[in-house]
Amino acid sequence: MRAMTYRGPYKVQLADKEDPRIEHPNDAIVRVTRAAICGSDLHLYHGMMPDTRVGSTFGHEFIGVVEQVGASVESVTAGDRVMVPFNISCGSCYFCARGLASNCHNVNPNATAIGGIYGYSHTCGGYDGGQAELVRVPFADVNPMVIPEWLDPEDALMMTDALSTGYFGAQLGDIEEGDTVAVFGAGPVGLFAALSSWFMGAGRVIVFDHLDYRLEKAREFAHAETYNFGELGDVVLHLKRITDGLGVDVAIDAAGAEADGAFLQHVTSAKFKLQGGSLIALNWAIDGARKGGTVAVVGAYGPMFSAVKFGDAMNKGLTLRMNQAPVKRQWPRLLEHIRNGYLKPSDIISHRIPLEHIAEGYHMFSAKLDECIKPVIVVSEE
Ligand SMILES: NC(=O)c1ccc[n+]([C@@H]2O[C@H](COP(=O)([O-])OP(=O)(O)OC[C@H]3O[C@@H](n4cnc5c(N)ncnc54)[C@H](O)[C@@H]3O)[C@@H](O)[C@H]2O)c1
Ligand SMILES: [Zn+2]
Ligand SMILES: [Zn+2]
Repeated sequence: MRAMTYRGPYKVQLADKEDPRIEHPNDAIVRVTRAAICGSDLHLYHGMMPDTRVGSTFGHEFIGVVEQVGASVESVTAGDRVMVPFNISCGSCYFCARGLASNCHNVNPNATAIGGIYGYSHTCGGYDGGQAELVRVPFADVNPMVIPEWLDPEDALMMTDALSTGYFGAQLGDIEEGDTVAVFGAGPVGLFAALSSWFMGAGRVIVFDHLDYRLEKAREFAHAETYNFGELGDVVLHLKRITDGLGVDVAIDAAGAEADGAFLQHVTSAKFKLQGGSLIALNWAIDGARKGGTVAVVGAYGPMFSAVKFGDAMNKGLTLRMNQAPVKRQWPRLLEHIRNGYLKPSDIISHRIPLEHIAEGYHMFSAKLDECIKPVIVVSEE
């Protein structure tokens, strides 16, 4: 089969790889129709995530058609069109039983903190991902779901991560009616977090980014008030000024470990590897939240960090909530919202790129060229 393969930082290419096989009776093999590139893939592409091995295939956002199932699989069958959450989870361990599908204890021999994620380095289990013609889907009875007839396949694709994660970010904020919510990052996750905040009762939603075209999308798609942090000087001071000096009730970090906005953080992390990434968005969230408020983190962070404003978080009495999103848990409510017409997730897709051009797709998304927001990889037709 043809698959995207990692060759080293900033280098990916399409290569021929052996077809995946059923390795366990509860595996399925899925023929991918559409995959997406995620902001999380950029952390891999930039060489930020430990144990990202040359030759591995990324891609944790995909939909496709079941090609083959193992002997014990009962809930899907060959020919089914399925959407697959980015989490690989067993469905029955201590953590899965408590809804923590992203923290499954049975799927990742290389780490205990995190469960399994398709195409997300050996730190997340070493599974090959779905930016390929075929992908092995473990625990086929637990994770994939047959795409409902009425659901647009591209909307289903957005549910495999970005939408579910954005919604989860707003959920972690414990938003109460009338709350003011600030979202850091107007990428797909931030856009969905901002829109979801309204569903949960927010009275005001503010989005920060430094890319004007994304802020425009935040106004149009998520009905948010927006600010370009590159034009603000002191971002936290500005946030305080526009919230009567108090700060926001809920701050959502949807930027993660490669946030811009602080030169020193870039030098210490990207250049000298003194810490695992930039903390500026997280620190803005901690500083920008009002005392007693909540900071929700869905932006991704990998290894060690040394400059988190933890003392401020402690002394302000903040609630800090975070996780990789347990995707499937969000689906029943999200399906209801989509069916009722409250949102059209695929509206954020900016590019559709054939699998042969995936390397250009990565470059474009990474460099934020051509007003790219969400690139979808067209792998095959059904
Ligand atoms: N928790 C999860 O389950 C989960 C799932 C998917 C993605 N993620 C993470 O969420 C983050 C966002 O993903 P995405 O696909 O939207 O990525 P993206 O790269 O498209 O978007 C990130 C946005 O943040 C903006 N940004 C950079 N520095 C900022 C700052 N200091 N303040 C505010 N905005 C800033 C960027 O300009 C960009 O528009 C990534 O870190 C990704 O790894 C987490
Ligand atoms: Zn993703
Ligand atoms: Zn489990």
